Amino acid sequence: MGTPAREGAPVTLTIDGFEVVVPAGTSVMRAAAEAGLSVPKLCATDSVAAFGSCRLCVVEIEGRRGTPASCTTPVAEGMVVRTQSDKVRRIRKGVMELYISDHPLDCLTCSANGDCELQDMAGAVGLRDVRYKPGENHYDPSATGARSQAEARLRMPEGEANPRYIRKDESNPYFTYDPSKCIVCSRCVRACEEVQGTFALTIEGRGFDSRVKAGAGADDFFASDCVSCGACVQACPTATLKEKSVVEFGTPTRSVVTTCAYCGVGCSFKAEL
Ligand code: FES
Repeated sequence: MGTPAREGAPVTLTIDGFEVVVPAGTSVMRAAAEAGLSVPKLCATDSVAAFGSCRLCVVEIEGRRGTPASCTTPVAEGMVVRTQSDKVRRIRKGVMELYISDHPLDCLTCSANGDCELQDMAGAVGLRDVRYKPGENHYDPSATGARSQAEARLRMPEGEANPRYIRKDESNPYFTYDPSKCIVCSRCVRACEEVQGTFALTIEGRGFDSRVKAGAGADDFFASDCVSCGACVQACPTATLKEKSVVEFGTPTRSVVTTCAYCGVGCSFKAEL
């Protein structure tokens, strides 16, 4: 493989047999897109910096060990990339199987049905069956007095209904947050920070216990630093963060000054939330 090129200098590489020329510093995923090749992804989106957490976009690179994430791997001169080898297809399918094993299987009645990236990616990697028992995904352990989801699972009697819908956060007048559908891709957390410059969201816990939460010790979105800009809702790939269609009569309100995040002008306006 060639030496690193100066930032912005043209770099030539081969992806799935196609020669691609892109500026140095471009990610392999972006270079593949330039060549008209689509690499499955979940945690990457154009509005926030690459993070490399979902591992769905893994590729093989000649001369390099392992299967790096294409979203966080920069191109290099002479690089030869395979995005559709048997090995990466197998890995992606295994990753998706784990995601689906920790996700409610209610697609037919889900508000995101037909507009869900998780659903799209399951199809893209050819997932048909899941070998694992469904988990009690993102269950609020405090409902049982347990200190973690692992402990809550142990406390649940065998055969008890999956309590995955507990503690949906509907405190914000403009959107809802359903932790049962969260895949912890952190796109919302990064959008809040990078697009809006607010730190209203955070990720707490590890493994099955990890979940997105209103930050800075707030119990819910309403009590957090959230300014309802909608960047997190736009970034969410599933039905975890969904716009409410109407503001319900009688919803408690407060006044905030918010800055629109969608262009460089930076208009501020007062909103009643
Ligand atoms: Fe690259 Fe998630 S899209 S790791």
